[in-house]
Amino acid sequence: MNKQLYIGGKWVKSTSSKTIPVVNPATEEVFDSVAAANAEDVDAAVKAAREAFDNGPWSMMSGAQRAVFLRQIAAQIELRKDEIVRLEVLDNGKPQPEAEWDIDDAVGTFNFYADLAEGLDDADETIELSDDSFSSIAVKEPLGVAGAIIPWNFPLLMAAWKVAPALAAGCTMVLKPSEVTPLTALVLADIVDAVKLPAGVLNVVTGFGADAGRALSEHLGVDKLAFTGSVPTGSTIMRAAARDVKNISLELGGKSPFIVFADSDIEAAVEWIMFGIFWNQGQVCSATSRVLVEDSLYGPLLERLVEEANKITIGPGNEAVLLGPLVSEAQYQKVLAAIAQGVKEGAKIACGGQRPTGMPRGYYVQPTVLIDMAEESDVWQEEIFGPVVCVKPFSTEAEAIRLANDSRFGLAAAVMSKDDSRCDRVARKLRAGIVWINCSQPTFTEAPWGGYKQSGIGRELGKWGLNNYLETKQVTKYNSDKPWGWYLKS
Ligand code: NAI
Ligand code: MG
Repeated sequence: MNKQLYIGGKWVKSTSSKTIPVVNPATEEVFDSVAAANAEDVDAAVKAAREAFDNGPWSMMSGAQRAVFLRQIAAQIELRKDEIVRLEVLDNGKPQPEAEWDIDDAVGTFNFYADLAEGLDDADETIELSDDSFSSIAVKEPLGVAGAIIPWNFPLLMAAWKVAPALAAGCTMVLKPSEVTPLTALVLADIVDAVKLPAGVLNVVTGFGADAGRALSEHLGVDKLAFTGSVPTGSTIMRAAARDVKNISLELGGKSPFIVFADSDIEAAVEWIMFGIFWNQGQVCSATSRVLVEDSLYGPLLERLVEEANKITIGPGNEAVLLGPLVSEAQYQKVLAAIAQGVKEGAKIACGGQRPTGMPRGYYVQPTVLIDMAEESDVWQEEIFGPVVCVKPFSTEAEAIRLANDSRFGLAAAVMSKDDSRCDRVARKLRAGIVWINCSQPTFTEAPWGGYKQSGIGRELGKWGLNNYLETKQVTKYNSDKPWGWYLKS
C-alpha cells in the first residue's frame, strides 16, 4: 500500500523527511509509518484542489455524472472491506464487528450521497416574488475547495461523512486524517485513484494537527473547513477560519445525558446504557456518559449495570471481545487521569476504574461505572472519551431535565420510559442536536447529526450534510425590455 501523500491525482513524497509512526494500541507496537505532511505539502494539495475546482470538470459535471463516481467508490470500499476492517482494527483497536459496521456505513454513506447528487440536477427552486415584473430562482452550487480535518474514533467513516457529501455537491477537497489513525484514509485515496476520479478532486495528506492541520485551516485557498474533534481544536480552527471568513462546520463531542424513568424495563435500560458508553471503548462523540435514573429504579439498575459491565470481554479487537484497547497511550492516560480526578473530587467507583489485570501490554481500561459525584465535578461535566459512565439518581422530571441540560455541551441525549407522552415532552426540552427515545446511539445516514451549544456548528448527514457543501445563488430576471421607470420615465 502507498504511504505517501495523494495530491493532484498522484502519490508524492512529502517535502519534509518526517514520518508518523503507526501504533497498534493492542500491543503498543509501531507496525508502520506514513508521511508527515508540512505546510508546503498542504499548499500543494490545496492548489491541486483549487485547480480542480476552478478549471476542472468536477464542479461543472451534472450530479448524475458525479453519482457514478460516488457509487464506484462505494463499490470499491465494499470489495476491499476485509482489508480495510483489518487495518482499522490494527490502527484504532476497535473490536472487529464494530469495524465491519463502520465500513458498511461508509459504503452506505457514499451510495446515499450518490442519490442526493442526482437530486441536485433538478434542485432549482422558483421563488414567489411580490412583484411580477421580476422572476427569480434559487440555484444550488458547490461551495468550492473544502478542507476536512477528522478524528481517530471512526477513521474511514468520518472520512466518508465529509468526502461523500462534498464530492456529491461538486466541491473538491483536501482531507487530513488523524495522525493517530492515518491508514484507511490512504486506502480511500487508493480507491479514488483506481476509479479515476479527476485529478485534484480528493487529496489526502497525512500529518500532525499542529503542522498539516494548522496549515490547512489557515490556507487562503480553502473556502470551507469541516472538522470533527475536540472543543479546543475546534475553537482554534474557528479562529483560523475567521481571518478570511471561511465557511465552517464543527462537530465537537459532548457529555450526553441518558434519562431513565422508573417505569422502564430494567434489562432494556441496562442494554442501551452499556451500548451508549462501552461501544468503541466509549470513544464516541455522542456517548451517553451521564446516566440519570429515577430514585426507585436507581439501586436495582446500578446493581444490574455493574453485574453486566464486569462481564464484558476485553482484549485485542481481532479476538472475540466486546471491548478493545483505547486508541493511543495519550487517550489511555487521559481516561485514567479523569477517573483519578473523579475519585479525588468525591466520586465512588462502582466497578472498573483501572487497567484490567493480567494484560501487560495494550491501552486497556476496564468498563467503569462511577457514582456519588458532585454536579459541578469534572467527571460529571467534562468529556472523558473512554468506557466511563457516571450514574446519578433524580426524583422528578423537572430535576432530570435540569441536570441533563446543565452542560456546556449539547450533542446528544436519551430518554427512556414506557410513557410515550412523557418521552415526547422530555425530548422537546432537552438542549441537544440528537435525542434518542428508548435507545442510545443508533445513527442513520438519512438523519441530521450535530450539536447545540459547544458541541458544534452545523449538521452533517442527510440532506443537511449536503447543504454544508453548497452555496445558494439567487438568479433574478426583469421580465421586460422597457426602462424600469426610476430614472427614465416612460
Ligand atoms: P483533536 O481535536 O486535537 O484532533 C482532531 C483532529 O484535529 C486531528 O486530525 C488532529 O490532527 C487535528 N488537529 C489538532 N490540532 C490542530 C490544529 N491546531 N489545527 C488544525 N487541526 C488540528 O483531538 P485529539 O487530540 O485526537 O483528542 C483529544 C480529545 O478530543 C479526546 O480525548 C476527546 O475528548 C476529543 N475528541 C472528540 C472527538 C469527536 O468525535 N467529537 C473525536 C476525537 C477526539
Ligand atoms: Mg494507531
